[in-house]
Amino acid sequence: MSKRQMHFGAMIHGVGHGWGEWRHPEALADASVNLGFYQQQAQLAEAAKFDFAFIADSLHIHTRSSPHYLNRFEPLTLLSALAASTHHIGLVATVTVSYTEPFQVARQLASLDLISGGRAGWNVVTSWLSGTADNFSKAEHPPHPVRYRIAREHVEVVQGLWDSWEDDAFTRNKQTGEFFDPDKLHTLGHQGEFFKVKGPLNIQRSPQGQPLIFQAGVSEDGRHFAAQTADAIFLLPETFEDAHAYYQDLKQRAKRHGRNPDALFILPGIRPIVGRDAAEVERRYQQAVELVSIEDALVALGRPFNDYDFSVHALDAPFPDLGSLGDNSHKGTADQLKRLARDEQLTLRQLALRFSQPRRDFTGTPAQVADALQHWFEHGAADGFIINSLLPDGLAYFTELVVPELQARGLARRDYPGRTLRDSFGLSVPGNRHTLRRTEAGVA
Ligand SMILES: Cc1cc2nc3c(=O)[nH]c(=O)nc-3n(C[C@H](O)[C@H](O)[C@H](O)COP(=O)(O)O)c2cc1C
Repeated sequence: MSKRQMHFGAMIHGVGHGWGEWRHPEALADASVNLGFYQQQAQLAEAAKFDFAFIADSLHIHTRSSPHYLNRFEPLTLLSALAASTHHIGLVATVTVSYTEPFQVARQLASLDLISGGRAGWNVVTSWLSGTADNFSKAEHPPHPVRYRIAREHVEVVQGLWDSWEDDAFTRNKQTGEFFDPDKLHTLGHQGEFFKVKGPLNIQRSPQGQPLIFQAGVSEDGRHFAAQTADAIFLLPETFEDAHAYYQDLKQRAKRHGRNPDALFILPGIRPIVGRDAAEVERRYQQAVELVSIEDALVALGRPFNDYDFSVHALDAPFPDLGSLGDNSHKGTADQLKRLARDEQLTLRQLALRFSQPRRDFTGTPAQVADALQHWFEHGAADGFIINSLLPDGLAYFTELVVPELQARGLARRDYPGRTLRDSFGLSVPGNRHTLRRTEAGVA
C-alpha cells in the first residue's frame, strides 16, 4: 500500500487577513482585486502539487472591515478565471447557504466543475455576520441553529440537483434528432422546511459527479453537520492538543454516521513562517509581528463576536464577561476564545494579540517546519494543512523550501495522481443515484 501523504490547500487571500499586511513593502496593495496575483499564487501552489486553492468569502462590510473584505473578488467568478490559468489544482469556493438559492449554487458549481475538468469544491458556510441580512432583503439574520438546518437542507437539494441528468443522458444524435434520453432526466421535486425546488438542473452532470464539500463547523451543530456531509474540514486550532481532540472527535462522528473516517480529511489552517536559517526565520517572524497593531488585533477579535467593538473595554483588565455574545455568529470560535481567556486568565490585550499575532509553532527553517507538520500528521491531528500567510512571499517560501523537504521524506506528493480534485484526495466519483437505482432494480 502506498504511504499516506499530506494534503495541502492554499488559502489565497488578497492583501491578507489583517489590517496591516497590505502595508508590507513588498505587498501588492491591490492584491484582492488583482487577477495576476491570484494566478501567480495558484500557479505556485500547483507547481508544489497542492490539492487545491481556497477562496474565502463573506457578504457584509462596514468601515472597520479589513482591507481585503472591503474590496475583493467574488469567489466563483475568480475561480472560473483561475480554471483557465491552471491545469490540476482544485478550486474551492466559499458560498453561503443562508443567502443563496440551492438551484443557483448547484448550477454555478457544476459549471465550475465542467469548466475546470473536475476540480471544483464548495466550502459550505452559514455566514456569521448579522448585517448580511440587510444586503439580501431579509428582516433578520437566521439564528445559528436555524442556519445549520438551512445548511443541511440546502446541501441536500444541491446534491440532488447535481444528479438531475444521468451521465449518458445527452445522446445528441444528429440522425434521429434525439438531443437527450428522457428516461435519463430526473426531476427533484423537493419540498422541505426552507426550500421548494422542482428541478431538474439546466446543466449536465459534471466530471466529479458531486463536487467536493468542504466545511469548518466548530460548534456542536457545526461538527455534526461537517461529520455527516463534508469531504474535507477546515479548522483553526490554537494548539496541537486542540487539533488532536477535534480530529478524533470528527473521525468518531463520521464513523457513527456510517462513513469511512479515512474519506473525511481534516485540514488545520496554519500560518507558517519559514526562513533558510535561524537569522532569516527571526527577521521574517519580526516582520510579521510588526504588521499587527493592537488596534487592528482588537478589531480582528471582534469578528467572531459579530464585529463587536472591543475598544470600549480596558486593554489590560481581564477579558470582559460577554455573556452570550457570539452565540449567533462564529459560535464555535467565540466559545473557544472565551474559554481560552478564562482558562489562562488573559487580559483583553493578551487575547487580542494571541488571536492575531503570528505563532511560533510553524515558524522555523524548512526542516523545523517539516518536523512540526510531520508531528501533527503522524499523531492524529491532521490529514494535511491549509497554508495561509502573513507575509506576501509566504506561499513562495513554503512551496519552495518546505514542500521539497516533505517530498524527500515521502510525506508530500511529487505529482498529481489524476486530473480531478477527487483524484487528488483518492475519492472515487459517486454513481448517479438514479442510475444506481435502475441498475439495482435491473439486477434484482
Ligand atoms: C479555515 C477556515 C476558513 C473559513 N472560511 C470562512 C469563509 O470564507 N466564510 C465564512 O462565512 N466562514 C468561514 N469560516 C467559518 C466557518 O464556516 C464556521 O462558521 C466557523 O468555523 C465556526 O463554526 P460554527 O459555525 O460551527 O460556530 C471559516 C473557518 C475556518 C476554520
